[in-house]
Amino acid sequence: MSFDKVHQETHGRLSKAVDDVCEEFVLSPEKMHELTNFFIESMEKGLGQAKEDADYRGLPMIPTYVTGLPNGTESGMLLAADLGGTNFRVCSVELKGNHKFSLLQMKSKIPEELLEDETVTSDALFTYLARRTLAFLNKYHPEYLQNGEKLKMGFTFSYPVNQTSLSSGTLIRWTKGFKIKDTLGKDVVKLYQKHLDDQGMSMIRVVALANDTVGTFLSHCYCSENNGSLTSGEIVEPVMGCIFGTGTNGAYLEKIENVKKLPDEQRAELLQSGKTHMVINTEWGSFDNDLKHLPTTRYDIDIDQKFSSNPGFHLFEKRVSGMFLGEILRNVLLDLFRRGLIFGQYTSEDHLPHRLTTAFELSSEVLSHIEIDDSSQLRETELSILQSLRLPTTYDERIEIQKLVRAISRRSAYLAAVPIAAILTKTGVLNKRYHGEVEIGCDGSVVEYYPGFRSMIRHALALSPIGPEGERKTHLCIAKDGSGVGAALCALVA
Ligand code: GLC
Repeated sequence: MSFDKVHQETHGRLSKAVDDVCEEFVLSPEKMHELTNFFIESMEKGLGQAKEDADYRGLPMIPTYVTGLPNGTESGMLLAADLGGTNFRVCSVELKGNHKFSLLQMKSKIPEELLEDETVTSDALFTYLARRTLAFLNKYHPEYLQNGEKLKMGFTFSYPVNQTSLSSGTLIRWTKGFKIKDTLGKDVVKLYQKHLDDQGMSMIRVVALANDTVGTFLSHCYCSENNGSLTSGEIVEPVMGCIFGTGTNGAYLEKIENVKKLPDEQRAELLQSGKTHMVINTEWGSFDNDLKHLPTTRYDIDIDQKFSSNPGFHLFEKRVSGMFLGEILRNVLLDLFRRGLIFGQYTSEDHLPHRLTTAFELSSEVLSHIEIDDSSQLRETELSILQSLRLPTTYDERIEIQKLVRAISRRSAYLAAVPIAAILTKTGVLNKRYHGEVEIGCDGSVVEYYPGFRSMIRHALALSPIGPEGERKTHLCIAKDGSGVGAALCALVA
């Protein structure tokens, strides 16, 4: 057989295998409907679920005790701290009362050992957080250290906690990589406050605990100049905050009467005091942990079981968020290699570049370059894979890798549309007012930087039960600095 013929056949086999894999990543309109309906069912179940049921694996639907939304006129000077998936941020926020704010911040990358080392304790983590807080005050606000003036702080803690009041909550489980066992079941506000006190910062009072989605929701309400106002005849209303970054999650406003999991007396008390709604942190990363409806490939199973720090949980997040997009691609590529279809220059798996054989070494940023590469011979892709994985590729291989990247990101965005469509449908906000429109505050690296992610969500929304008409009324807005400003807003009402 001639060289050309062999080459064509090899590419043909790879191309066919890749098409089959891509097929598994497609979500049909029927599937969008099925998933959205199941999401609504799961929300209702979660709202009624007793907190103490340890075996419950459904949607957490956590009450946040935030019972009102800002309108942009709030003012004051507050502190905020934000422990996310990759960074810890401390900021001071000055709310100016006119939808505007100014913010000073110090961002630190969480040291690897706090994430990786299983022997690390809560004390080590919170000592580190307090140390960074002190560094921030020393640099930007030494006056508070000297005069001891009291300062309110909101703490954005972007992990599932059982919130018992606006200012307290115990960690249910870590997500996004942390493994520190002794934090489970502990009140994270108490831990942080203790270490602030120990390091001489008792003038700081941590008065509010907020999930990053709650912060994003509130800060979008504060910043949106459309909030409740008439814009060319329509009323635009912020209805949700969501994150598509390292992790994914969303928060929205629910009628208190529907939050059946609140103790009866507490619900009655809230209603009596005139409160009608409460922000709910859905923790939608944990949607369908029993895999009754989520599309599941063998790669998803492997990633969850072999490589993730919380097997069996947050299975929706593992198909959607930035932490997993690259890992899905890595697993597909390894499978194709094992089947003798790609990277034929390597004779065995031991000879592959170690970055390709190491979990979580392929970042979603690399996928974002490949997604939009239209350079001749896909040179951008070649460079990106070479730089990130030290892996040389042929043009034929790159064509197939690009197909895979686009299938993985499309599935992620289509799935991302499911909870949005479900919340819009369940709350009925799209039909609340004639010509009413809604805004969704979004934050996170994927929604902000992944090329086309927002438009893919929009395509999927049009295919979901809200249809093209609902999709047209829905605005996906980037809410910058959500967790800092949002936590400050929570602290303000506390
Ligand atoms: C994970 C966390 C959740 C957070 C989300 C986005 O899903 O469990 O609390 O909101 O990541 O950061």
